[in-house]
Amino acid sequence: MVSVLAQGHGPEVAANGNDSLGRPLRDLRISVTDRCNFRCVYCMPKEVFGRDFQFLARAELLTFEEITRLARVFVALGVEKLRITGGEPLVRRDLERLVALLAGIEGVREIAMTTNGALLAPKAQALKDAGLGRVTVSLDSLDDEVFQAMNDVGFPVARVLEGIAAAAAAGLTPVKVNMVVKRGVNEGSVLSMARFFRGSGHILRLIEYMDVGTTNGWRLDEVVPAAEIIHIIGGEWPLEPVDPNYRGEVASRYRYRDGAGELGVIASVTQPYCRNCTRARLSVDGELYTCLFASRGHDLRGPLRAGATDEQIAARLRSIWSGRDDRYSELRTAATVPSEKVEMSHIGG
Ligand SMILES: C[S@@+](CC[C@H](N)C(=O)[O-])C[C@H]1O[C@@H](n2cnc3c(N)ncnc32)[C@H](O)[C@@H]1O
Ligand code: SF4
Repeated sequence: MVSVLAQGHGPEVAANGNDSLGRPLRDLRISVTDRCNFRCVYCMPKEVFGRDFQFLARAELLTFEEITRLARVFVALGVEKLRITGGEPLVRRDLERLVALLAGIEGVREIAMTTNGALLAPKAQALKDAGLGRVTVSLDSLDDEVFQAMNDVGFPVARVLEGIAAAAAAGLTPVKVNMVVKRGVNEGSVLSMARFFRGSGHILRLIEYMDVGTTNGWRLDEVVPAAEIIHIIGGEWPLEPVDPNYRGEVASRYRYRDGAGELGVIASVTQPYCRNCTRARLSVDGELYTCLFASRGHDLRGPLRAGATDEQIAARLRSIWSGRDDRYSELRTAATVPSEKVEMSHIGG
């Protein structure tokens, strides 16, 4: 039976290696730690991720060599882009060593990283030298009071801006800047963020607040729809849509009509993009998640440490991917959504 989502996907539907909805495996997001030096209210609220929270023990974490071995198998199956994430990836020591190992995998087109920027400034050049291509830095406001209320550890805006500047100077470009917009918290910062990053060469991406995990107490009325965000910015500086760079691009792109560059909106709540989702996620304890909103992962660390060959791991990946039918965001309003979901800090954004 041809699924509804598969219709219209052309020859890819029949090609080997696609999932049950006709989507190829192209991107791998690799979480390198479940820890973070921030406690963003929408991701790792302090009440849950407090002093008593049990983070993973060292022995449970994949080593850089284990991550690289798995990544190599993923690349052999069609993955072209790797993104390093977390938790906060830069709290993992010697991360540039992992970047260098990943950069040595033949067939990798791009290695990127998402970071909160706190530890980026002194590391940017070493990461670039190791083979990192680009960074995305998260920043929710230019107003210290608002930003510190969101990161909840009193971290100042200026230090994140230093990280962004260092990344640009090192050539980790274009730098993208992720801003999660939460109603009543930082929607008032949208225009000042747009003003600041217009013409800077950096690409601001405004993200709808998502119901990832179960700890952030998400409510639909706290989501500022992407259309509203575009209306706010477009009212000040006229915008026009830009074609996606490639199939499956998460952000909808817009450009300023006056030539001051582009921005993106990520509308995972109001305009789900499940049908083009080509991403797999690897948690730092070696579980493969086929959706950001999955309730469970598939263990890869067990077979890896039990001595499985690359061929055996590839067979497991193929079987998991071919059975993939996730499209949570499209089903969000239906009664069938899972009530338990993995936390964003466990698998990365
Ligand atoms: C989980 S973080 C991991 C990487 C890094 N610590 C950082 O903050 O950039 C990845 C991205 O997910 C975003 N994010 C986290 N929780 C979110 C939520 N509930 N809704 C939308 N985006 C979220 C963050 O703002 C960040 O841009
Ligand atoms: S969004 Fe990133 S910086 Fe904020 S708590 Fe989550 S992992 Fe940490």
